[in-house]
Amino acid sequence: MWNCTRSMLQLRMLRLMLLLSVASIGWFDLATASTHDVYNGARPGHRIVQTRYGRLHGMILPLDNFRYLRSVEVFLGVPYATPPIKQNRFSPTRAPAPWDGIRISDKYSPVCPQRLPNIQNETAALEKMPKGRLEYLKRLLPFLENQSEDCLYLNIFSPVNAAGANEKKLPVIVFIHGESFEWSSGNPYDGSVLASYGEVVVVTLNYRLGILGFLNANPSPHVHARVANYGLMDQMAALHWIQQNIQKFGGDPNVVTLAGHGTGAACINYLMTSPTMVRGLFHRAILMSGSAYSSWALVEDPVLFAIKLAKEVNCTIPEDLNRHHEQIVDCLRDVPLEDLYAADIQAPNFLTSFGPSVDGVVIRPGHSNLDIDDLMTRNSKRSAGDAGAQSAGGNGGGSGAGGSAFSGGSGYFGGGAASANIGGHYDVLFGVVTGESIWRFSAHDIQNGFEGERRDKIIRTYVRNAYNYHLNEIFYTIVNEYTDWDRTSQHPINTRDTAVAALSDAQFVAPIVRTGDILAANSPPPVSSATPSGAASAAASTLAASTQPAGRCYFYVFDYQTKDGDYPQRMGTVHGEDLPYIFGAPLVDGFSHFPQNYTKSETALSEAVMIYWTNFARTGNPNEHHRQDSVLPVSKERNRFRSITWENYDPLHQKYLEIGMKPRIKNHFRAHQLSIWLRLIPELHRAGMEDVIARHNLFRNHDDMELYEGPVKPDPFGLSAGTATSSSSPGSSSSSSSRLLLIDEQLMMKKGRGLNASTYLNGILGVASRMPNGLMGYLCCASDNQSDSVEH
Ligand SMILES: *[C@@H]1O[C@H](CO)[C@@H](O)[C@H](O)[C@H]1NC(C)=O
Ligand SMILES: *[C@@H]1O[C@H](CO)[C@@H](O)[C@H](O)[C@H]1NC(C)=O
Ligand SMILES: *[C@@H]1O[C@H](CO)[C@@H](O)[C@H](O)[C@H]1NC(C)=O
Ligand SMILES: *[C@@H]1O[C@H](CO)[C@@H](O)[C@H](O)[C@H]1NC(C)=O
Ligand SMILES: *[C@@H]1O[C@H](CO)[C@@H](O)[C@H](O)[C@H]1NC(C)=O
Ligand SMILES: *[C@@H]1O[C@H](CO)[C@@H](O)[C@H](O)[C@H]1NC(C)=O
Repeated sequence: MWNCTRSMLQLRMLRLMLLLSVASIGWFDLATASTHDVYNGARPGHRIVQTRYGRLHGMILPLDNFRYLRSVEVFLGVPYATPPIKQNRFSPTRAPAPWDGIRISDKYSPVCPQRLPNIQNETAALEKMPKGRLEYLKRLLPFLENQSEDCLYLNIFSPVNAAGANEKKLPVIVFIHGESFEWSSGNPYDGSVLASYGEVVVVTLNYRLGILGFLNANPSPHVHARVANYGLMDQMAALHWIQQNIQKFGGDPNVVTLAGHGTGAACINYLMTSPTMVRGLFHRAILMSGSAYSSWALVEDPVLFAIKLAKEVNCTIPEDLNRHHEQIVDCLRDVPLEDLYAADIQAPNFLTSFGPSVDGVVIRPGHSNLDIDDLMTRNSKRSAGDAGAQSAGGNGGGSGAGGSAFSGGSGYFGGGAASANIGGHYDVLFGVVTGESIWRFSAHDIQNGFEGERRDKIIRTYVRNAYNYHLNEIFYTIVNEYTDWDRTSQHPINTRDTAVAALSDAQFVAPIVRTGDILAANSPPPVSSATPSGAASAAASTLAASTQPAGRCYFYVFDYQTKDGDYPQRMGTVHGEDLPYIFGAPLVDGFSHFPQNYTKSETALSEAVMIYWTNFARTGNPNEHHRQDSVLPVSKERNRFRSITWENYDPLHQKYLEIGMKPRIKNHFRAHQLSIWLRLIPELHRAGMEDVIARHNLFRNHDDMELYEGPVKPDPFGLSAGTATSSSSPGSSSSSSSRLLLIDEQLMMKKGRGLNASTYLNGILGVASRMPNGLMGYLCCASDNQSDSVEH
């Protein structure tokens, strides 16, 4: 039987294998079938499911000809919301309308409207991405071609009941897809194998993306809250639907785990902290390679992108944005979809143009990925362990106290207490892969590496776009940390590798460890670490811990490259390379966009990962001994995982499971680098906020575009373009360096100087309205000569 399945390697899609198992001749024809008439050959389901909104008829996928798998019942394209079309565009998600008759759920719904990465011209594409990324996109994008605004559907994969109708209800895993806030879909992530092997109900779903999912034209969400994170609301709506209906599909509504990858994990991070999230809709979270604290995860100034879009499609921009920003949304509601998505709104490198942003409703005011308040709770814990070991330990503690005072007076920064207790309710499993950022580099970079000059450009661009203050100091800190000083000369390959490491740490590892630290702050402390430290700043979390049930945290680092994968070996595991293992692709020789060829050990690795993930979904503990007697046999290779106990994560001991062919428990993953990102740089940055003279914060030659790579954000102080003297005549200004700048001066006038100063600062900088004395400084210094100011 095994050999039989091996012979089907050529098949691109799981569904085709399913077809084959029904009608075993003529599959050459089927292999060329469109990717959209999914599951045509599967058997109709044996039952009609009565949901709260109407009846559904799914289908049976006979998987039992694969080893270790049993058949699953699948329901595709189930509506969980009223279609967000016409007047419902840019509206909060509504419950679906009931339907009469029986809905045949055998087809995926269209995906939400999106602009796909352009890979038509491969030469051009390879200037922006590695070959492996191109191959991956070639497999993925065909699933995303059928688009419609009517896209709010979910898919359910449920093991066929072996023991009859009275069988215990199964845990539910809801997958929130990643790739981007602006494109992709849940559809390509077929949950059949995971459901079958792990004995769980898997749900995948679409949510609104890009402009339709995240438009936010409201400049003062902290004063006038208004929903803007429609995409996140869609996810909440799906969770509501699951509460109401999943029992009918064999799922237990009291054991729901949200699992997300990349941007999807960031979404879950928001749901965990959202004031609008109803308690009890989900109970555990799996955050894979994504966090709300990454620079790409929060649009700090969404209004600028909204206005840029409005201009491109000829919507009028109201004079008083604070009062009339709704006019923009109203106008965009009537613009044809093609025009909306034809507009070219490019985000600065490493940032997002249409993604989650503070709207005062779904995402609370005060959330900022530059907010250091959350960090201090964590710092006080972390420094308990390593104070004295590093000189930075003392600094961290000292400024932590200062920071508390700062946050005490400012409502806008009041995230500390709130975020300290958010983790208490959820068990969390989180982790990263070893080479998260590899896919951002060009084919040439991957092949040949590059010199220090280019590395500097990339890091400088990241620093400029991700931070606002003390850019020079931050830049040199990073370059220093990621230079191998033991070498006499730097080889281009080494330089490339350090740049990959720097971006991976900055964009993925540090942010998710920060999330983990915050969430773990409420976990029961390990016995040995009971000594409290930084009593003042830890007060909030102590309080929270005493009043709320604590969640458990587990941290993994996935370090395995698929043998027949898309990337050269020994580069590290690329973002998303763990997903085929989690979805069980090796057990069926691959499906949808995942690779097709796997070794026996890779199959075992996939089994181990699925068991960890589904154990966690079942009990909150990934370890095997919590698992009920398994119905299914497991392969011998998997035994090497059996002897390992995955200990839970806390900010002090920082234990994690390294997942690979030789799994082991380690601790303090990339601890030195992370202390740079999580402690030193935030301190440098914060010191800049208190600087009276804004120009100290900019780079020397801040506007020399030769020093950057890709689009950069404008100088947040409005210093460099030299327009500060004109205060009342929009349209008259021009910027010498506007080539790559996103925002024209006219917009700055409207948003900033036209309003009052505190609004301006809130909007542009996303920082406290109560600036210690520096407020007028930022504005008054704009006309000063800047070229003599920068020193370091
Ligand atoms: C696209 O989706 C619509 C709606 O489900 C469906 O009717 C149509 O057949 C699909 N088109 C393709 C090419 O799959
Ligand atoms: C593809 O892109 C390359 C590099 O940008 C360019 O030189 C070439 O002309 C393009 N080819 C086509 C057919 O557009
Ligand atoms: C906007 O107006 C300009 C000039 O009137 C026109 O050329 C352009 O096609 C319009 N764009 C849209 C999206 O309607
Ligand atoms: C799988 O691997 C074999 C041997 O390495 C190779 O010949 C074959 O082309 C691969 N198949 C796919 C679909 O990649
Ligand atoms: C301006 O500042 C005052 C207080 O300083 C505040 O009440 C007001 O809301 C701010 N915004 C506008 C648009 O006036
Ligand atoms: C700024 O300073 C430089 C050098 O100190 C000088 O050459 C330049 O004229 C000054 N510009 C202005 C606008 O004062």
